Amino acid sequence: MVESTATALPLDRAVVVIGAGTMGAGIAEVAASAGHVVYLCDTSEAALDRGRAQIRASLDKRVAKAKIAQHDAEAVYARVHAAGPGAPLERVGLVIEAIVENLEIKVAALRDMAARVDEDAILSTNTSSLSVTALASRLPQPGRVVGMHFFNPATILPLVEVVRGQASDPDVVDTIVATARAWKKVPVVCQSTPGFIVNRVARPFYGEALRLLLEQHTTPETLDAVMRECGGFRMGPCELMDLIGHDVNFAVTRSVWEGFFHDPRYQPSLVQKQLVDAGWLGRKSGRGFFAYGEGQERTPIQDLHGSITTQVVIEGDLGPAAALGTLIEEANIPVHYAPGRGLIRVDGVALALTDGRSAAARSVELGEPVVLFDLALDYRTSTRIALAGAVDVSPAQLDSAAGLFTALGKKVSVLGDAAGMAVSRTVAMLVNEAADAVQQGIASEHDVDAAMTGGVNYPLGPLAWGRKVELPYVAGVIRHLSSAYGEDRYRVSPWLQARTQAEARAHG
Ligand code: NAI
Repeated sequence: MVESTATALPLDRAVVVIGAGTMGAGIAEVAASAGHVVYLCDTSEAALDRGRAQIRASLDKRVAKAKIAQHDAEAVYARVHAAGPGAPLERVGLVIEAIVENLEIKVAALRDMAARVDEDAILSTNTSSLSVTALASRLPQPGRVVGMHFFNPATILPLVEVVRGQASDPDVVDTIVATARAWKKVPVVCQSTPGFIVNRVARPFYGEALRLLLEQHTTPETLDAVMRECGGFRMGPCELMDLIGHDVNFAVTRSVWEGFFHDPRYQPSLVQKQLVDAGWLGRKSGRGFFAYGEGQERTPIQDLHGSITTQVVIEGDLGPAAALGTLIEEANIPVHYAPGRGLIRVDGVALALTDGRSAAARSVELGEPVVLFDLALDYRTSTRIALAGAVDVSPAQLDSAAGLFTALGKKVSVLGDAAGMAVSRTVAMLVNEAADAVQQGIASEHDVDAAMTGGVNYPLGPLAWGRKVELPYVAGVIRHLSSAYGEDRYRVSPWLQARTQAEARAHG
């Protein structure tokens, strides 16, 4: 990433935050903590009171946790001024709008504010879904308008997407990047396109999960356990959607899908629509995929323990699962190595890492029943593995496969025979989405990865993840998904395609 020499907004310039709701109050606290005078504006007196109370409570919490001294907290609080409609606003250098998600209302509020503040003030919006370009075009100086997209809670989450509209002046973008950094945030720059970085690149995390549930391959409980304990994600997709709220998550998916002219990659799911229609919105309504409230317990998931492994043969190169050879040796299970097509033979039963084909398709290719296992973030530290077998795999064969992973200290979940299983297809689609965002100049490779680790806590940025498992593996998974489904949803990004071909040439 090229470091810009732009300087942050000077501390003697004030910041106006329009909207004293959840986001506005959080952003006001961030700017005041950095040392700016902040004018917090809202059309509702009650909202202003609530916003100030939110800041007070948050500062008290920081004092209690010894993150800030009491007198510094008082100084931060004193810098936030509730500003009614006619209040004087002095030396304003930046306006951050955080009001209702409606273009017309945002344009009106920013236009009014532009007339009240210094002419050189930068106007920014915290919108998560509207076009910054469209907003800017309706304001007097489109060059001075950018997106400044904070994540909730703004005081805690470090990521800020600095959204460049078509007409945004590069110096303005640089100033906002430097300002976000001075405010101890992690800024990433992106173009104003649907979902910006995070809300676009994260779509497959939800979309593939919903697809697996739609096709009855697993349950929300098992899927979450596999994605957390095998894939290394902080939260499973179902519990995360329950936390975000299905109404909100569905609306974001829908807006990205519509923003991309109904590209099937972002198509909303009937599984989620059912939940929204039923009012099962997740934690906030007491029920989503899971039930919440006193005495509610999740259905325990079924783990398969399997039989004792006596002999293992590793045939050929296991690719992204190569670490398993060492782990099996370390578990004192005798391993023989032989040439072959990347299989682990456990007491005669063939196991293979999923490559995007179903176990049924792999069995046809190999001429014998095969049990597939899922991609793990790290085969050494992952505590769970998922297996899948075709309908002709016997329980004894599945037991042999499970026994190997049990011997490696892992819990074993069995999924239906879905192409690409759970972690592999999700990670492949995340990498592909990130690759497309880079290909289309939405953001740099560095910023896409920083956005996904900083904004949604992924254990690795998608592009770093793709490189770790190797890009040809990722492209292969998507190609196989494409032939399994015959849908345009599973198409390899030109970025990924080009790098896969370059690697193929390099390896002769
Ligand atoms: P909120 O509903 O908590 O607060 C909005 C506030 O704006 C209310 O206090 C309301 O009285 C005030 N308001 C409405 N119209 C106004 C106007 N014309 N002038 C002044 N104040 C006005 O909303 P929230 O959640 O804080 O969201 C605000 C913005 O931030 C939206 O654009 C949203 O998409 C975006 N955002 C929200 C995130 C979230 O997780 N809640 C995360 C990132 C962005």
